[in-house]
Amino acid sequence: MVPQTFSSSYLTGFMETLKFAVLPGDGIGPEVMTVALRVLEQAGQRFGFRPDATHADIGGIAIDNHGIAYPDSTHQVCEEADAILFGSVGGPKWETLPPKDQPERASLLAIRKAFSLYANIRPGLLYAEIADASPLKRERIPDGIDIVCIRELTGGIYFGDKSTSTLDNGEEQAIDTMVYKTSEIERIAQVAIDTALGRGKRVCSVDKANVLECSVLWRKVVAAYFAEHAPQIELDHMYVDNAAMQLARDPNQFDVLFTENMFGDILSDEMGVICGSLGMLASASLGARQNGRGKPFGLYEPSGGTAPDIAGQGIANPCAQILSGALMLRHSFGLNEEADAIETAVRSTVEAGARTADIAFGLDSVGSEAMGEAVLERLA
Ligand code: IPM
Ligand code: MG
Repeated sequence: MVPQTFSSSYLTGFMETLKFAVLPGDGIGPEVMTVALRVLEQAGQRFGFRPDATHADIGGIAIDNHGIAYPDSTHQVCEEADAILFGSVGGPKWETLPPKDQPERASLLAIRKAFSLYANIRPGLLYAEIADASPLKRERIPDGIDIVCIRELTGGIYFGDKSTSTLDNGEEQAIDTMVYKTSEIERIAQVAIDTALGRGKRVCSVDKANVLECSVLWRKVVAAYFAEHAPQIELDHMYVDNAAMQLARDPNQFDVLFTENMFGDILSDEMGVICGSLGMLASASLGARQNGRGKPFGLYEPSGGTAPDIAGQGIANPCAQILSGALMLRHSFGLNEEADAIETAVRSTVEAGARTADIAFGLDSVGSEAMGEAVLERLA
């Protein structure tokens, strides 16, 4: 008789190894990463894979240890991996450095560019059970929220030419340039299409075409691309100011919210707050590069940042990091069932009332580790 504890892959003698880079970064990054890795380990035991994680420094900790936010050695670790599980970078300690050397620009933006991770996918999910965590009235979101933001991540004003100068009259001046090319818009339009095909088949493209040339081009290219490649998808266009308002008024009117880099940064934070807590929001950043398994190489990170105010206290919500791990399994390793299992475990943990402080709302709250334990129990 076969002992129950032997997984089928063990019996066939094959334990799939998942090779990924782990970059915990700063602030709450390392704490929530520890919990997320435990969850991946356990998912591996249940489903028969072995996480092979190589740790490296990035952000402020890399400045402290190597004198630079994105060391070559860290880049090399990522080059050799099939995906990157990222924590978060930055904090007060490094805020006095010149802006271009600070962790956000010198490491996070640098790594996005280095791997051409142009497609940022941010699911905006609020479980009905924690609808009270949203600042929106419950009657506006009786079933919670389920939308997704597709943000262009390697173009626009983030990466156009920048300069500062002092004018003849002694005033200082700063310039940031917003640039988009047709090809950059088309490739992210395809991601919006693919995402919408797996959901409600509706895309709202957000721009500022009444003011910006980049947006005029964006709207024209998006309209033509969808007409040619995805006529079955319902495409709308909306100005970004209106989109910000609509998101606060009735988020579920959207299915896929699709936009350029800067607008996506702002709207995805708004989406985060209406979904209750940034501590629940995962994200995937994908590019054209395929990994050793013929899947998209990607970087997976929580949307919430380093939360310096609570770093080191063991109370941060680990769910966004855990869910980022699930996105990694799905996109970069093609492990859909495994990703679903982790997502289901997180959801049922929250439903059962285990809550970190950010989503507790009157219930007793638990720390990051206990929250992780609760997820592990459900995953087992
Ligand atoms: C995000 C963050 C980053 C961004 C910062 C940290 C550079 O806000 O991922 O949304 O602006 O893209
Ligand atoms: Mg942001």
